[in-house]
Amino acid sequence: MGKVILAPMEGLADSLLRDLLTRLGGYDGAVSEFVRVTGTRLPLRTFRRVCPELLDGSRTPAGTPVFVQLLGSHPERMAESAARLAELGPSGIDLNFGCPAPTVNRHGGGAMLLEDPALMARIAAAVRGAVPRGIPVTAKMRLGVSNTKKTLACAAALESGGIASLVVHARTKEQGYRPPAHWEWIARVRESVSVPVVANGEVWSESDYRRCRELTGCSDVMIGRGAVADPFLARRIRAAGGAVDRDAEWRELAPLLDEFWQRVKQCVVARHAPGRLKLWLNSLRRCYPQAEALYGRVRSLTSVADVDAALAVATGLM
Ligand SMILES: Cc1cc2nc3c(=O)[nH]c(=O)nc-3n(C[C@H](O)[C@H](O)[C@H](O)COP(=O)(O)O)c2cc1C
Repeated sequence: MGKVILAPMEGLADSLLRDLLTRLGGYDGAVSEFVRVTGTRLPLRTFRRVCPELLDGSRTPAGTPVFVQLLGSHPERMAESAARLAELGPSGIDLNFGCPAPTVNRHGGGAMLLEDPALMARIAAAVRGAVPRGIPVTAKMRLGVSNTKKTLACAAALESGGIASLVVHARTKEQGYRPPAHWEWIARVRESVSVPVVANGEVWSESDYRRCRELTGCSDVMIGRGAVADPFLARRIRAAGGAVDRDAEWRELAPLLDEFWQRVKQCVVARHAPGRLKLWLNSLRRCYPQAEALYGRVRSLTSVADVDAALAVATGLM
């Protein structure tokens, strides 16, 4: 059976959600949100803030290894940052070649690098050379900026730079997050390189997972939004079979939702805390009618006390 990996999702899945999702089971690995490497030397606390798991052997409390993702376009600075990060003992270092955010792209980082395979190779080689051999360096790419003309060249460049494996999110930057994901392109990449390729994009269910593996020929799959919307997805994939019992799942999820809220209240300022809960509930609505109902009750609430009360009724816990 191949690996199922929890995708990096800046602003959606932080260490708290990684903890809860990997605790439910089924994930073999996870990748942190990106740490942006710019001109200034990054203090070690920046890595620990994005990936607090570094304080705990670079694993979630359930023991799932977490790779730390770096994003930047300058090979030497990326290498310096990777060397510093390596001091903290990450399970691995992943390089971002897919972020479509304008603030990142304006400085030539993330998905814009897909225009320049030679630079991608230099970044990968510089980072690989700066980090002890025992720490895997991996990469994650989209298909291109606006077309697939350079897809295979980008994959070859990363392979020549010495990466250990490659996640392919099967869309161009311009395609954003719009379905479909072009899984057939993942198959083409897989056939063109000899490093393992991990398939990514639009896996929301067990049947998506199966079709994605069949079509791409990849054994390993990375799941992003589907993991947040359906926290039991990876566990069901592992179990392979059986009907989905959403009511039973919700009963198991309710205490975790409560824990999530209690911990959000501790680490997020009060005026932003309800927003964090709404963000997860908004994803969960896709799978759970109970989440839809709860979302309806909390969506207009802005105070922590009001959300406390709504959640207490819904989960029957507080
Ligand atoms: C809110 C959000 C934040 C993301 N942040 C990152 C990131 O920090 N690094 C990265 O490589 N990809 C990031 N991605 C892309 C995902 O890792 C993944 O490639 C994409 O969502 C496609 O997979 P999915 O269809 O399973 O969600 C992000 C996606 C979303 C929706």
